[in-house]
Amino acid sequence: MATLKPVDTFDLLIFGGAGDLSLRKLLPALYHRDGAGQLPTGSRILAIGRNEMSQEAFVSLVEDTLRARLKGLDADRWARFAERLSYLSLDAEDSASWDPLCEQLAGFEDRLRAIYLATPPHLFGAIAQGFKARALITGNMRIVLEKPVGHDEASARRINDEVGACFEENQIYRIDHYLGKETVQNLLALRFGNSLFEPLWRREVIDHVQITVAEDLGVGNRVDYYDGIGALRDMVQNHLLQLLCLVAMEPPSSLDDDAVRDEKLKVLRALQPMTASEARSQTVRAQYQSGAVEGTVVPGYIDELGRGSSTETFVALKVGVENWRWSGIPFYLRTGKRMARKLSEIVIQFKPVPHAIFDASYDTLPNQLLIQLQPDEGMKLTIMAKRPGPEGFSLIPVNLDLSFEEAFGGAYPDAYERLLIEVLRGNPALFMRRDEIETAWQWTDTLLASWEDNQQRVDRYVAGSWGPASAALLLDRDGRSWHTGS
Ligand code: BG6
Repeated sequence: MATLKPVDTFDLLIFGGAGDLSLRKLLPALYHRDGAGQLPTGSRILAIGRNEMSQEAFVSLVEDTLRARLKGLDADRWARFAERLSYLSLDAEDSASWDPLCEQLAGFEDRLRAIYLATPPHLFGAIAQGFKARALITGNMRIVLEKPVGHDEASARRINDEVGACFEENQIYRIDHYLGKETVQNLLALRFGNSLFEPLWRREVIDHVQITVAEDLGVGNRVDYYDGIGALRDMVQNHLLQLLCLVAMEPPSSLDDDAVRDEKLKVLRALQPMTASEARSQTVRAQYQSGAVEGTVVPGYIDELGRGSSTETFVALKVGVENWRWSGIPFYLRTGKRMARKLSEIVIQFKPVPHAIFDASYDTLPNQLLIQLQPDEGMKLTIMAKRPGPEGFSLIPVNLDLSFEEAFGGAYPDAYERLLIEVLRGNPALFMRRDEIETAWQWTDTLLASWEDNQQRVDRYVAGSWGPASAALLLDRDGRSWHTGS
């Protein structure tokens, strides 16, 4: 087994430290890693926020949040974790408010210093500059940028320039939390740890690929932020394109920091640009109306927002990867809020056998590889088998079924646990490089501009469904259907 870099004693500074992401994801992730013995003694976690809050109030806020999320806390583990926590109020744009932070950091220049920016992206540059201006950037330092890095290519470039003026590219860790998911990393294991699939992973054998990331939740209390952002920017530009990249990329020469990212970048560059006419025929935008999800009545997007809006909460599209391996093979992507249930899956649909030797009255279904990302992580390969018995050749599809829960047992650490440890270890391979983010925005911007040109319609779908009829039609026109809930 490869030896893993150890985690050195660190100071982790979380900007937006009392915010939603920090309380829901980052602090629980750190608590778990602490429980697993991965956080060295003496390491400190400094939460930084704009609001004034006493140390006691912050620690008890974290305790209450963890207790509610984890349904109870181990007293010793919590006491050890609480020791590490402190809270500082700081307004990045107010120079005087930096002083307490400078005092906290003085004398700790030799230890690993990591800063996590869980703030709105327009503050990324000001915070990075704040560190530079006060000579707080040490030789052993990393900066983590939470998504979204910008809302289009120009703003992403601006942020990258501003942060890049203070930190080297190899110190900048841009998060896409999907890359920290165990099952997403398993895609690499599937493709490059087995000799079985790679020779088949090409246009001659594969008919098409489907990627679905469906959520049952609505936008909830993020509705004001979400409106004007929409599903294309929120999910497709990052998570779905990253999944597409991992499916479509060429084998990297190693798992080194840049080898995988170089290959992903080539896929992003090969994505078919969505001109106005392509956008019209190959993409669907939609918004949920009231309905029922898993038996509970839920309001529509407009009711939650309290005003009219044409922001999409659902996107389905067909895109090509224009290279030798994938030319002519459609990739169908679909994501939405308030769909029938939470489900992320990738379907690799193989072509039919080239010549039928069995009685035409028996359906020979093409093989299918289903990669289930969440929940119920696993893989299913559908193959044709002969139904037992003396009655000629009656073929039926059977599944070679691997449930990760049965094979490996239990639940996996949250993606943020893995990613925070990678930051502390200094391993940027699972993070997005500047060129990847900007190229993904470039493609997204073209589609957004085409929607604008087309005045593209926003269809409606009932909450709790699998999306609008137009999404089913997108595949129907090609003689195909979505794997789940067409
Ligand atoms: C975030 C999006 O990046 O991913 C959210 O901003 C979305 O809108 C979330 O709900 C989904 O993540 P997961 O891990 O629950 O699939």
